[in-house]
Amino acid sequence: AKDPVRVLVTGAAGQIGYALVPMIARGVMLGPDQPVILHMLDIPPAAEALNGVKMELVDAAFPLLKGVVATTDVVEACTNVNIAVMVGGFPRKEGMERKDVMSKNVSIYKSQASALEKHAAANCKVLVVANPANTNALILKEFAPSIPEKNITCLTRLDHNRALGQISERVGVQVSEVKNVIIWGNHSSTQYPDVSHATVISEGAEKAVKSLVSDDEWLKGEFIKIVQQRGAAIIKARKLSSALSAASSACDHIRDWVLGTPEGTWVSMGVYSDGSYNVPAGLIYSFPVTCRNGEWTIVQATYMIKSRVSLPGLEIDEFSRKKMDATAEELTEEKALAYSCLS
Ligand code: NAI
Repeated sequence: AKDPVRVLVTGAAGQIGYALVPMIARGVMLGPDQPVILHMLDIPPAAEALNGVKMELVDAAFPLLKGVVATTDVVEACTNVNIAVMVGGFPRKEGMERKDVMSKNVSIYKSQASALEKHAAANCKVLVVANPANTNALILKEFAPSIPEKNITCLTRLDHNRALGQISERVGVQVSEVKNVIIWGNHSSTQYPDVSHATVISEGAEKAVKSLVSDDEWLKGEFIKIVQQRGAAIIKARKLSSALSAASSACDHIRDWVLGTPEGTWVSMGVYSDGSYNVPAGLIYSFPVTCRNGEWTIVQATYMIKSRVSLPGLEIDEFSRKKMDATAEELTEEKALAYSCLS
């Protein structure tokens, strides 16, 4: 039998945490033959609720779940973890300035970065979910210099999955038949959901989404807006923010990262920019990536040319370029704001 993998979930007493921990314990994140030990962290006001979640995990009798650590102590939570899913953070409350929210989260991510750096297992993979996700991940990276930058990512897979869902409804195919949408940039309303290279299996053949959706106006307007604003639409409907879809997408993100993406398919991940596609280096920016042997690689234009799969290369037209730059600009501003909170 495999050794258990230790998975940290911060903010585990919250909404997403409540949806996420049973998925992890059932093998949705790491596969049905991978035992897990859950480490759950929350803050003292949530300690009792956190203990309630632990009680339910015991009650659910998950065969793969080999242990549960439920704690408000950051060091205990981070010790020996192989995977860290950072869901805990400070939410924006009415009347709060953006700078105040940023400042709270910068200080949380700074201290949790140090704890992970000192106590997590070597090669720990980190996924930041809590908003502002890209910038929280950047702060975590800056304050955990010994964790390889390739190991620190943020969640844009929910946006990616939302885009798949919208295309599937529009074209009238199963969501499993849609692939290779891209989310570029920030997990915010400036993100750019791009279908330029997306395909659909229709009547047994792979076809470009652009050839099936003749309404280019819809793809460049309504579609983008729906994906960008989907989080707000869920809040309006549920009076609570997305939780099950966020949890499920976090599992997709880690599963694909660890176990690999299928041949010919890419996914979107917020990763440390190396300057690809002229995105400023040093931002955590969402790119199309493929994963193999536990490592992600940004899909490059040449990747498609070399590949035997006959898909168009990732050429960036003027429309896309503008949107990719606008979201990069927002991230550059967020980064400056985060740094101003440090001093
Ligand atoms: P929630 O408020 O229900 O849960 C957050 C939990 O974090 C609470 O239990 C809170 O006590 C805990 N927490 C606060 N500070 C902490 C700290 N320093 N250490 C550990 N735990 C701490 O919020 P919910 O709905 O679960 O969302 C969590 C985060 O995920 C939010 O920041 C939200 O904006 C973000 N989010 C991101 C998405 C994405 O696609 N990247 C999608 C949906 C939500």
